[in-house]
Amino acid sequence: MRLFYAVELPPEVRAQAATHIAHVRQAIPNARAAWAQEDKLHITLKFLGEIAEERVAALSTAATRAAQSASPFDLLIENTGSFPPRGAARVLWLGVRDVSGGLAALQRLLEDECADEGFAREPRPFKPHLTIARLRMAQDARLLAAMHGETKFRSAEFTVRRLVLMRSRLGTGGASYTTLSTHPLHEGRL
Ligand code: 2AM
Repeated sequence: MRLFYAVELPPEVRAQAATHIAHVRQAIPNARAAWAQEDKLHITLKFLGEIAEERVAALSTAATRAAQSASPFDLLIENTGSFPPRGAARVLWLGVRDVSGGLAALQRLLEDECADEGFAREPRPFKPHLTIARLRMAQDARLLAAMHGETKFRSAEFTVRRLVLMRSRLGTGGASYTTLSTHPLHEGRL
């Protein structure tokens, strides 16, 4: 099973991102790109890849433990950007500002709990972002990245209260996601 951990977004933030996507698409209608769908927008905390079904319970346990050690925190979705930072853009994203450091703390807890369960650590630094498009054609990339940057995104703030373990199924119409388990963050902080 192809799995990842994620933080969900409230509907109003997804709607705002979808409006941004529609704006960029309309400006360059012939550009080739795989655009994120509003109902699937999320922030990935850790991509696990192909995992045997019997290991899913351990991943759920790791998420529960990490969530119990974390408190709810606020995030800001703001700014636009692309990966890689130089050369033809392959991914367009909206920025995630981790105001309190709560997201980075949760990601570290999750990495530690996963390592305790025998899962590999992510070797690359954590760069939280909200992917809005994957670009297929280098010749469209410059135009799309420029339009994405010119389309200002008004900051959107929300509170993260849980993390989820998601399954991704790859298909011709893009990936479809299902939530395997939900893990509320510890609410005990005064
Ligand atoms: P992305 O948004 O930056 O593309 C499901 O595929 C989620 O896992 C996506 O949000 C994706 O992040 C993330 N992910 C991280 N590393 C990945 C990888 N090597 N292959 C596929 N998805 C990956």
